[in-house]
Amino acid sequence: MPPDPRTATLLLSLLLLLTSHCPATAVLPQFREAPAFRNGKDCPISTWPTDPHDPSTIHISMTLDYSTPYLRGSIAAVFSVLQHSICPENTFFHFLTTTHSHHFHDLNSTITSTFPYLHFHLYHFSPTLVNQLISSSIRRALDQPLNYARIYLADLLPATVNRIIYLDSDLIIIDDIAKLWKINLSSHVLGAPEYCHANFSHYFTAKFWSNPLFSGALKNRSPCYFNTGVMVLNLTKWRTNDCTRKLEHWMRVQKRYRIYELGSLPPFLLVFAGNVEGVEHRWNQHGLGGDNLEGLCRDLHPGPVSLLHWSGKGKPWLRLDSKKPCPLDSLWAPYDLYKHRQLISDS
Ligand SMILES: *[C@@H]1O[C@H](CO)[C@@H](O)[C@H](O)[C@H]1NC(C)=O
Ligand SMILES: *[C@@H]1O[C@H](CO)[C@@H](O)[C@H](O)[C@H]1NC(C)=O
Ligand SMILES: *[C@@H]1O[C@H](CO)[C@@H](O)[C@H](O)[C@H]1NC(C)=O
Ligand SMILES: *[C@@H]1O[C@H](CO)[C@@H](O)[C@H](O)[C@H]1NC(C)=O
Repeated sequence: MPPDPRTATLLLSLLLLLTSHCPATAVLPQFREAPAFRNGKDCPISTWPTDPHDPSTIHISMTLDYSTPYLRGSIAAVFSVLQHSICPENTFFHFLTTTHSHHFHDLNSTITSTFPYLHFHLYHFSPTLVNQLISSSIRRALDQPLNYARIYLADLLPATVNRIIYLDSDLIIIDDIAKLWKINLSSHVLGAPEYCHANFSHYFTAKFWSNPLFSGALKNRSPCYFNTGVMVLNLTKWRTNDCTRKLEHWMRVQKRYRIYELGSLPPFLLVFAGNVEGVEHRWNQHGLGGDNLEGLCRDLHPGPVSLLHWSGKGKPWLRLDSKKPCPLDSLWAPYDLYKHRQLISDS
């Protein structure tokens, strides 16, 4: 007896439903193996974590997002750090990801196969930590939980990591990162290039400025804008001052009163602006992705360049793939280790 056509349809749609949700069918991104980068002859030998107080280790943190093209950006950024370091073997990468279960292991293998000599650790960042605290912003990419992981570095990383360089995924470094690592933070928790001509009126809503309980937070400070994509943090001091809770406080206020339109940046401005150690501007030539709405081509700011940052809507990998690159995107291209699908089937 032939099967009831309705049952057959049901079975078919069930099958389609199952396969479309099955992660095994997803094509995981693949990357070429980076060459081995070795320490120069005058480099000390890095011994962290065996020696938890080893001063020669440079700790760097970045996020890895397996489900979006940002992973391609993170890998290019790591490649650029290694290529320009005098002591590349003394870098230790602390990667944060929301990916879990078998994808966590796939991601771990991807990093190992792309950078076989890299010292790194992969940490799981649970989106439930921030999900209730995130308010929608003007650009969806800014609302991803992973974008907020930088707030939790002090909790996620081992207590022996006292200083960290946090880097976004849409940048490359063309200088020795040890120079950024060694900056003097003096008494500050956070170091970043500052922009003191920025008009703070634009970062917060009328609701913020009209309520002295909120705007009073900026009183008696000379707040300057800084970009949270490149930060040097004293994690010891961050932990003592409980900066994570202070940032969460402003996210709760935002949830209730809508005091700003951007994503994770305004809480950082509210907690730190005016108390930031100014770093040379060369360490964050930001805005190369254009603004948050259009992603137009931008030029470099005047002055020397140690780090190029495609903050904004336009990303070099998207513009290169669409064959409509901006002139500066050609500086990102040499760090791209992504294997395009036709290349995979050829090899
Ligand atoms: C990640 O990969 C490395 C090297 O292959 C391995 O030693 C480590 O245990 C892996 N970590 C996890 C969490 O799977
Ligand atoms: C760092 O800067 C502070 C304040 O400017 C200064 O007192 C201190 O000596 C500096 N530390 C080092 C190691 O240069
Ligand atoms: C900042 O912008 C606001 C609103 O557009 C304006 O009223 C104010 O005069 C500006 N302040 C400065 C110092 O330019
Ligand atoms: C970090 O802050 C702690 C606590 O305030 C301080 O003792 C330490 O010297 C700072 N470390 C650096 C490298 O600035």
